[in-house]
Amino acid sequence: MNVALIGFMGTGKSTIGNELAKELSYTFIDSDNRIEQALGVSIPEIFKVYGEDYFRKLEYDTIVNIIDESGIVLSTGGGAVMNKQLFDLLLSRTIVINLEASLETLYERLKSTNNRPMLYDHDLKNRITELYRVRHPIYMKAHHSIRVDGMDIKQITNKIIKIINKL
Ligand code: S3P
Repeated sequence: MNVALIGFMGTGKSTIGNELAKELSYTFIDSDNRIEQALGVSIPEIFKVYGEDYFRKLEYDTIVNIIDESGIVLSTGGGAVMNKQLFDLLLSRTIVINLEASLETLYERLKSTNNRPMLYDHDLKNRITELYRVRHPIYMKAHHSIRVDGMDIKQITNKIIKIINKL
């Protein structure tokens, strides 16, 4: 069995994924980290040098490869499931958990970020609001959605474990 965490930037996918993997004795994989390791450069650098489309291709191929393994907790980049084919694949092959946060929480968590190229060169509040408007309905197609506002890592992880145990 594999678990995939999806959701907007700043919802804690990597932190929660890491903790969840420990609790389940699964292997934690962050798709962005895999990409960075494979290319030896950071995500902002990949966007800058090769552009977003190229990053999306890498992201697709990387995630397709990861879900071939088993016993994985995968944290995806916030834009990964905007690719319908990839989202469908995740839905058919993994338990997909969407981490949901309010716009206020997202803004608070993202206001000092400097490694997220999707937020560069924009008014941050407007950009988050606009991306959220487009992405939220898609994220909600996950098997399960969990609100993370005001919850700590343990509480969120326990919620996910409860969901998994009920399956
Ligand atoms: C992106 C989110 C990032 C990373 C890239 C693009 C997005 O991951 O994949 O910068 O389009 O939302 P996080 O969600 O981990 O920040």
